Amino acid sequence: MERIYLDSAASTPVADEVINEMIPYLKQQFGNPSSIHYFGRETNRALQLARKRVADLIGATKPLEITFTSGGTEADNLAIKGTAEYVRIKDPSKNHIITSYVEHDAVLEPCRDLERLGYKVTFLPVTKECLVEPKVLKEAIMSTTALVSIMYANNEVGTIQPVKELARIAHESGALFHTDAVQAAGKISVDVNDLGIDLLSMSSHKINGPKGVGALYIRNGLEIMPIIHGGGQESTMRSGTENVPGIAGFGKACELAKARMTEYENYVSSLRDYFVDKVLSEIPYSRLNGSRTSRLASNAHFTFFGVNGEDLIIKLDESGIAASTGSACSVKKQKPSHVLKAMGFSYEEITGSLRISLSMKNTKEEVDRTVNVLAEVVRELRSLSPFKSKYA
Ligand SMILES: Cc1ncc(COP(=O)(O)O)c(C=O)c1O
Repeated sequence: MERIYLDSAASTPVADEVINEMIPYLKQQFGNPSSIHYFGRETNRALQLARKRVADLIGATKPLEITFTSGGTEADNLAIKGTAEYVRIKDPSKNHIITSYVEHDAVLEPCRDLERLGYKVTFLPVTKECLVEPKVLKEAIMSTTALVSIMYANNEVGTIQPVKELARIAHESGALFHTDAVQAAGKISVDVNDLGIDLLSMSSHKINGPKGVGALYIRNGLEIMPIIHGGGQESTMRSGTENVPGIAGFGKACELAKARMTEYENYVSSLRDYFVDKVLSEIPYSRLNGSRTSRLASNAHFTFFGVNGEDLIIKLDESGIAASTGSACSVKKQKPSHVLKAMGFSYEEITGSLRISLSMKNTKEEVDRTVNVLAEVVRELRSLSPFKSKYA
């Protein structure tokens, strides 16, 4: 069976160019990048090249503004805990953090942990389209606010937040601004200087790089506390011998993403629009969720009324189609989506949800086959539902 992969927001395949970039550091170039001999210098050079490529993708001025981590989750933890701790040491009254209800758990959980440690955390509500409204941030921000952390683009419904405006409001009150750009960096043009971002999290495996690698951009001159202590690698920001093959691959993935960005956005957004139009016209009682305009090119998120999203995923998988109900990470927790709840969705709207996330590899033929299967599966599941007469 020819399988169709429509879950690129969960992870992506490693590009051939990325694999080729990594191989020398898995074979002959194995030195510790902190060693001063030839082998160490060679791997250190790979780190510096990757740092430059990552910095270039997000418009960072200096490569040293990039700290490599084990992924987006660690980058988020470092940004939030590292900033909170540093700011409170400097000024104990600064113990307030603002985030939103629709963040990834990699942001929500460190914030909750800080709450347990005595920090005050405000979770901002969102609109029905998943947008954090600047006026809501303005009302919540205080002179004690140390950090505002709002994601760049939502991993479930793809909504892109007005980060430039949100960063401006944070700075007006003397707070720092962090954004979790794991779903955005490499897919849309991001310029940290133009946007006024102080800290930005990224992840390699969302952009055809290897898993277990990510980075935190820390604006030049900004100090935060490390959360992993040891030998002082990554300018003391993240101790531990660097994952050289992974980092080299991540750097290459960033270079490729930058070179292909316009082509990616044009191709993927037109395929997504084709998908959405086809679903909405061919499957009754279906609805697109999230923003129509401020949205990632790759994302289509639907509710199919009268259907259970998990059943839908299983049925699609049986036909060789991989999609998702939302965040791959929260599936393990078996909880209804906190994002859709925050968007004000009813239980029925949440359970009937399906996330499709596309990539350059997907084709119109795959979309056609998927919509045919989807229409059939939705019809079948509705016929088994106790509410079948409602959706006949
Ligand atoms: C918005 C967002 N933040 C953080 C993460 C975590 O990134 P990683 O898998 O690299 O730890 C993800 C992963 O899905 C994500 O979508």
